Amino acid sequence: MSNYHIKNLEEYFQVHRKSVRNPELFWEEIAEEHFLWRKRWDKVLTWDFKKPEVKWFEGAKLNITENCIDRHLRIRGDKTAILFEPNDPKETAQHISYRQLYERVNQLANVLKEQGIKKGDRVCIYLPMIPELAISTLACARIGAIHSVVFAGFSAMALSTRVNDSDCKMVITSDGSYRGTKTIDLKGIVDDALKECPGVETVLVVKRIHSEIEMKNGRDKWLQPLLDKAATECEPEIMDAEDPLFILYTSGSTGMPKGMVHTTAGYMVYTAYTFKNVFQYRENDIFWCTADIGWITGHSYIVYGPLANGATSVMFEGVPNYPDWGRFWEIVAKHKVTQFYTAPTAIRALAKEKLDCVERHDLSSLKVLGSVGEPINEEAWHWYNDNIGKKKSPIVDTWWQTETGGIMISPIPYITPTKPTYATFPLPGIQLTLMDEHGEEITGNQVDGRLCIKFPWPSMARTIWGNHKRYKETYFSTYENQYFTGDGALRDEVGYYRITGRVDDVIIVSGHNLGTAPIEDSINEHPAVAESAIVGFPHDIKGNALYGYVILKETGESRVHDNLRKEINQIITEHIGPIAKLDKIQFTSGLPKTRSGKIMRRILRKIACNETDNLGDTSTLLNPEVVQEIMDNAL
Ligand code: PRX
Repeated sequence: MSNYHIKNLEEYFQVHRKSVRNPELFWEEIAEEHFLWRKRWDKVLTWDFKKPEVKWFEGAKLNITENCIDRHLRIRGDKTAILFEPNDPKETAQHISYRQLYERVNQLANVLKEQGIKKGDRVCIYLPMIPELAISTLACARIGAIHSVVFAGFSAMALSTRVNDSDCKMVITSDGSYRGTKTIDLKGIVDDALKECPGVETVLVVKRIHSEIEMKNGRDKWLQPLLDKAATECEPEIMDAEDPLFILYTSGSTGMPKGMVHTTAGYMVYTAYTFKNVFQYRENDIFWCTADIGWITGHSYIVYGPLANGATSVMFEGVPNYPDWGRFWEIVAKHKVTQFYTAPTAIRALAKEKLDCVERHDLSSLKVLGSVGEPINEEAWHWYNDNIGKKKSPIVDTWWQTETGGIMISPIPYITPTKPTYATFPLPGIQLTLMDEHGEEITGNQVDGRLCIKFPWPSMARTIWGNHKRYKETYFSTYENQYFTGDGALRDEVGYYRITGRVDDVIIVSGHNLGTAPIEDSINEHPAVAESAIVGFPHDIKGNALYGYVILKETGESRVHDNLRKEINQIITEHIGPIAKLDKIQFTSGLPKTRSGKIMRRILRKIACNETDNLGDTSTLLNPEVVQEIMDNAL
């Protein structure tokens, strides 16, 4: 029996049992056999969920880029590591071999050093999905700098908040980006953001769209000339197992985004292990994850997981509907993609288009289909299974989070029988619990509760950058000695898990986590707005869309309302980004509140979802009369 590569269901059960009985031994064997260490660990695991503190492979020394690149050179030097498919299908795809990746990462690592970046410094990466994005993350890791990738769809204000929160010294960006037929002025956004970021000394700029941009003297530098002069060898910085590898921001239900900190060894071991098993990866497969590297899915399953296994990982710059809705399938056929990993929101959008967009492409190379980021509804699951997988490629519905670093619950394809909308079993090493509202564990099957994890796993985020207290409060204070995920889940009669959705004030829109508080805060900045509340409601493609209830300082005429709606969405776009725009905005004279002044979101949610038959108990409200008004004017 091999711990590393599960081959049948019996083995899955055995391996899972072993991983629960003796987690240290289980992970130690995997770490020992499959990675390159400069020094072995002294201790596999130290943990205390009360503090909370978790350390894996303490005392070990390594560099993750040696594991993701150098060690493959001898036998896979000419193999494609990154297969870059540009936005425009007429532009040639780039096959970047492991040898070329090695040289490009080292050159950039040398440039970073030359520009004064040292081990432990934070570097913000704000780039489109071009090879330099993956190369920048790896170049940081090469020299021990901590990367903080910010999704290039975020606004200038969102970018500056993130740059300042982690004190980044440098930003790596591009002159602009392509998105279908559009170009986006990324450098302009960075310039705006950096007006508020005194700590940034250098901006390295990749030339992508060849637009005319301003370069600030002394701060901004074109990257290519610096790379041209840089050596293609750069000694890797030898890191401790628990040294931070990266920071990645995720929305919380309140306040500032949370800079989740992931460390080196555990993250490497877990992402590599899960990549191998969840996608049943074999040597000559072509793996394509459509996520952006600005999200955790891209970090773990475009960059680190695939490269640690010596795989070929496709990186796509464009969008699913350019030049037409057949683009994804054209790429699958063109590069003979074997594993395809995407989000339900994309599947739902694709399913709305003519089937001809799919059928004119040869999808026979596909072996495994993946889904991530939000619950996949039954209809989307069947469309994916029937039309893309042709009922032959299993769908792995993978549940995990920015905080978990890697996939936690998923079928193992060809091994775990799939069931639509179920993420099925926890992966080896993962010990799940369902908790009730009173803090008791719910045992047995056919039950539902709040999803928690009771034992550490190697790739868990270790803290929130600069705010360990918030880390403790958010994840370890709801239930004693448990990591609380914020999700609800049910366990069926055989022990399969189905995620039912968030139980906090985070709403998942098109697979993106959005906290309600930051959106409300930005709306409230509009001079005409007194107060607001945001809830989610079901949407055909996005999964959820946002519904805002807004109280104006002065009730204006309804003809000004449309303008106000535009202005409110404009403010949200400036503060957060277009992904957080509201689909519906209802102006109201009040919001239902408890006697202690808390907004009763449950009622607002029901009205937004048109489920007003059963509003539940409203008698405890301070202002029950407002409920009728809101119902009468619901959009
Ligand atoms: O609510 C769950 C949902 O996405 C949340 C995590 O979002 P994020 O940190 O942005 O990471 C997304 C990519 C890993 C979870 O708390 N979620 C993620 N995957 C699934 C899911 N909900 C249902 N089914 C899934 N497969």
